[in-house]
Amino acid sequence: MTLFKGSGGIPSRSASGAATALTHVLASIADLAEGHRLGHGRRIAWLALKLAPLCGIEPSEFEALYYAGLLHDVGELWVSSEVFHRAGPASRSESIGVREHPVTGAEFLARFAPLPAGVAELVRWHHEWWDGTGYPDQLHWTQIPPAAQVLRLADTFVSSLSDRPNRRCLPPEDAFGEIISGAGRELGPQFCRMFALLFQSDAEVAQLADKQNDLGTKPGVMYALERATPDDVEQLMLAIADCADARHPVLAGHSRRTGNLAARIAERAGWEPTEIDRARLLGYVHDIGMAAIPSGIIAKTDRLTSLERAAMQRHVLYGAEILRNIPELEEYADEARHHHERVDGSGYPDALAGPAIPLLARLVAVCDAYDALTTGRPYRTTLDSDAALARIERDAGYAFDPTLVQALASSLPATTI
Ligand SMILES: [Fe+2]
Ligand SMILES: [Fe+2]
Ligand SMILES: [Fe+2]
Repeated sequence: MTLFKGSGGIPSRSASGAATALTHVLASIADLAEGHRLGHGRRIAWLALKLAPLCGIEPSEFEALYYAGLLHDVGELWVSSEVFHRAGPASRSESIGVREHPVTGAEFLARFAPLPAGVAELVRWHHEWWDGTGYPDQLHWTQIPPAAQVLRLADTFVSSLSDRPNRRCLPPEDAFGEIISGAGRELGPQFCRMFALLFQSDAEVAQLADKQNDLGTKPGVMYALERATPDDVEQLMLAIADCADARHPVLAGHSRRTGNLAARIAERAGWEPTEIDRARLLGYVHDIGMAAIPSGIIAKTDRLTSLERAAMQRHVLYGAEILRNIPELEEYADEARHHHERVDGSGYPDALAGPAIPLLARLVAVCDAYDALTTGRPYRTTLDSDAALARIERDAGYAFDPTLVQALASSLPATTI
């Protein structure tokens, strides 16, 4: 039985369209997890598909290669993000975490039935090197599937082109030089030869460095997840909620609980099924921008400095940007952006007040606060349900919409009110 009351909150005509949109949310979360700009996975997928026919990859494998490109680094979400945000060598435990990300990512993706067969294997092997010094399985030469080599090459090239918090980007010619110098070590010589042909004959490859280049709108790149069912859509929604909370164990389950509470309040208040679904989905996606926030800031027990607070507050901007770039979900962008506004106008990011804050954002703000108070955060102790409700009621009219605080009170289990 699905959780949905109606469409799942996604205005798509089919489960296939909804699942495809949600997979793009996952891909965007993966982009942020490693400190890349949005579209990193999409660029890799695009380049891998350009190379694939030249490297003898069968057309039947293109779809798996596309999704593996989009999602190759999803396992980075479970790696402490400090390693991606500062210069200098990683500690031993950080190195182990980084080397596990292909396995973590492959295990995570293997659960999703509508993804094409082979995606999990390609993700597992996207850091294997031709000479056998890669990870996690130290495959070498022809033990590495050609599609995984193509993915490795596309990842190396596109990553070299993009700035990251701890590394400057290279110009396209230098990134090309890195690929060629990796022939026989990182990459099979024949793959490097094919890449040289492509680079020299197709100007679009060098344009991958262009920040304005939006591959999302290019025709022929998209493959829809045709086999997806409503159950798959629900699994993907839950996965997104879990990915939003993956940055630190203290957040585990926060987005699921926030979404479920928002749906319960909406149901008790007699909202339409579509609106109940929308409330749940906004709860699931409201914190997806947290993937970009260094884990050290999330875990900090002392007061945040003003710089750290500003960094933390940017999660609403990243989340809104992800949603705005996915047509089926763009209507949620403003609601996600405004879930930390306060009705007295003292919230962020835009200091909106009262009814200027979208209704669903006001609802999720109440649920978000209740969940944070009752499950604890590194910087303060956990409250029981009564104490949390009392704290929220005290802030009604200042932080929270009084009508929605009332709705929260009447939705909580009877023993607590
Ligand atoms: Fe990776
Ligand atoms: Fe938030
Ligand atoms: Fe939250």
